[in-house]
Amino acid sequence: MDATTRTESFSLLQSVDASMGWSVRMTKKYLSAARTMSAFVVFLLAVSVLAAQSAPQQDLAPTPPMGWASWNHYFCDYDDQTIRDQADALVSTGMRELGYRYVLIQECLTTGRNPDGSLIVDTKRFPHGMKDLVDYIHSRGLKAGTYTDIGLNTCAGKPYEGSFQHEDQDVATFAAWGYDFIEMDYCNRPQGHTGREIYERTAEAIHKTGRPMLFYICSWGNEAPWTWAQGTAQLWRTESDLSAEKNHVDWGRVVKNFESNARHAVFNSPSSWNDPDMMEVGNPGLTPAEAQTHFSMWVISAAPLWAGNDLTTMDAATRALYTNREAIAVDQDALGAGPEMVRNYGAGIEVWAKPLGARGSGVMTVMLLNLGETPAEARVEWADLALSARVAVRDLWAHKDLGAFSGGYAVRLSPHASALLKVTGAFDWSHGATFEAEWPGNRREGNAVLLACPECSRGYAVSLSGAKPGSTGSSLAFTHIVVPEAGRYFAHLVYVYSGEGSHTVQVSANGNAPASVKLPGAIYGTAVIPLDLNQGENSITFRYAGQGSVQIDRLKLTR
Ligand code: GAL
Repeated sequence: MDATTRTESFSLLQSVDASMGWSVRMTKKYLSAARTMSAFVVFLLAVSVLAAQSAPQQDLAPTPPMGWASWNHYFCDYDDQTIRDQADALVSTGMRELGYRYVLIQECLTTGRNPDGSLIVDTKRFPHGMKDLVDYIHSRGLKAGTYTDIGLNTCAGKPYEGSFQHEDQDVATFAAWGYDFIEMDYCNRPQGHTGREIYERTAEAIHKTGRPMLFYICSWGNEAPWTWAQGTAQLWRTESDLSAEKNHVDWGRVVKNFESNARHAVFNSPSSWNDPDMMEVGNPGLTPAEAQTHFSMWVISAAPLWAGNDLTTMDAATRALYTNREAIAVDQDALGAGPEMVRNYGAGIEVWAKPLGARGSGVMTVMLLNLGETPAEARVEWADLALSARVAVRDLWAHKDLGAFSGGYAVRLSPHASALLKVTGAFDWSHGATFEAEWPGNRREGNAVLLACPECSRGYAVSLSGAKPGSTGSSLAFTHIVVPEAGRYFAHLVYVYSGEGSHTVQVSANGNAPASVKLPGAIYGTAVIPLDLNQGENSITFRYAGQGSVQIDRLKLTR
C-alpha cells in the first residue's frame, strides 16, 4: 500500500535537560531551505518519567468511582457514628443504587504506632475499632475507603500517621480491615524522595495484598500523575482542594478546578481518571445555579463523583442534583472521554462537549456555560461538533426532549448557570474523527514511550523507537475506533520525526496483514493511509523497527 505523504515544515529542536525528574532531549536540525515552508520549531520533550509501556489496565474502575467522602463537610469533626449515618443515607436516599458505592473516611484516623510499627486507631473517634466500622459499611452494600499520606504524618500533622516507610505494613493493615479504597495524600513529602516513588511502592504493596483496592493519588496535580500513573492508581487529583475551610466553598475554586482538570482530559479513560476533587454540592457558598453548574462540570469531566456534603440533612434541591440519572450517565459513559472546550465566545460564555459511546458516534454531551456576571445567550453550533443536518437535543436537567434543530441550539443563561444537553446527530465523517496517540485506552508496546510535545495536539505524542538489542521495536495500537459501517476509510497519521530520509512503519487494521507506509522526515508530516474497517469496533496498529524513532501525534479518520 502506498501512502500519500504531505510534509508541512522542517526543523526540529531536541536537547537534554533534567529537572523535576523530566529528562528532556533536544537536537537542532535544519533541513534544506527549499523544502522549508516556514520557520517552525517543535520541542519534543522525551519525558523519562512517563511509563515506557502502557501498564495493563486492572479494570478496577471501568467508570469513574462514585461515593461519599468526609473531608469537605467535616474536616476532622466527625466520628464513627457520623460515618455510619452517612452510609445509611447513601442507602435511604437511593444514591447507592445510582452508583454511589464508596464511603471514604479522610484524615484523623490514628494516634500513633505500636512498637511493631502497626497503626494505632483513635479509639475515642472509633470506639468499636476500624474493622467493625468497615464491616458496617459493607453490611449496607457499600465499599469502604481510607486515607493515608506519603509523609511520616498526614496533612493534619501529628499524631496522624502517614505511611512513609510503612507502605507494606499499612496497606496490609488496610486490607485486613477490609478496605476497598485508599487515598494517599501529598503532605510532608520526605526529602530526597519523589511522590511517584512512594506512590509506586504503595501500589506494589496493594498488589501484594491480593485484595482489590482502588488507589487514589492525591498529589494535587504535582508530578503530573496523568502521564505515568495508569496501572499504578485508578484516579488522581489534578488540583489543590476546593475547600479552604470546613463546610464552605467559593465558586471561583469550583471553576478553577474544573478548568485545570480539563487540561488533562486527553488522559481520561477507563481506570485512568482525572479528579478535580470531591464535590461541594450541598455545602454553603454556592447559589442554586452554581451548584447545578458544579455538578454539570463534574459529570462532563467524567470526574469521580464524591458527594462532599451531609447527606442526612440535604434539601430536596441538593438531592435532585446528586440523583439525576441522566447527568450521572454522562459521567459514567463507558468511553470515559474527558471534556473539550469547543467554543469560547469570551465574556465567560463557553461551550464544552464530550463524546458518548465512541468518538464519531454522533452522540455527545454539551454544556453551555455562562461564567459571566450578567444574563447572556450561549449557543452551540453543530459544525463545532462535526455534526451535520438536524440534531436532536435533550435537556438532561429538565429530562425533556427539546426537538431537532438545524445549525445549532441557543439558550439564555443567568450568571454562573449552565445547560447540560445530550445531542444526537449524524457525525460528518468527511470532516473526520480525531484519535490522540497518548490516550491511555490505546496500547503501547515494546519501546513505545509517551512524550510531552507542546506543539502536538493536546500536548503529547507517542514515540515509537526502533529495534534495540533484545527488542523488536515498538508499536502503538489505536483502540476504540468505532465506525458506523464497514468499508474504506482514510487514516491521516500525523507524525513528527527528526531523521533524514524516510522511515517505514507497518500499519494494520484489526490485526490483519500489515502494509508498509513511508514517512519522510518532517515536522507534522501527514501520511494518508487507506484502510478497510469493520462496522463497529476496530483497532489500528503502527509498528516501527527501524533506526531512530518516529513520533506519532494523532490519527484522523475520514471517509
Ligand atoms: C488534602 C486532600 C483532601 C483531604 C485533606 C485531608 O490534601 O486533598 O482530599 O484528604 O487533605 O487533610
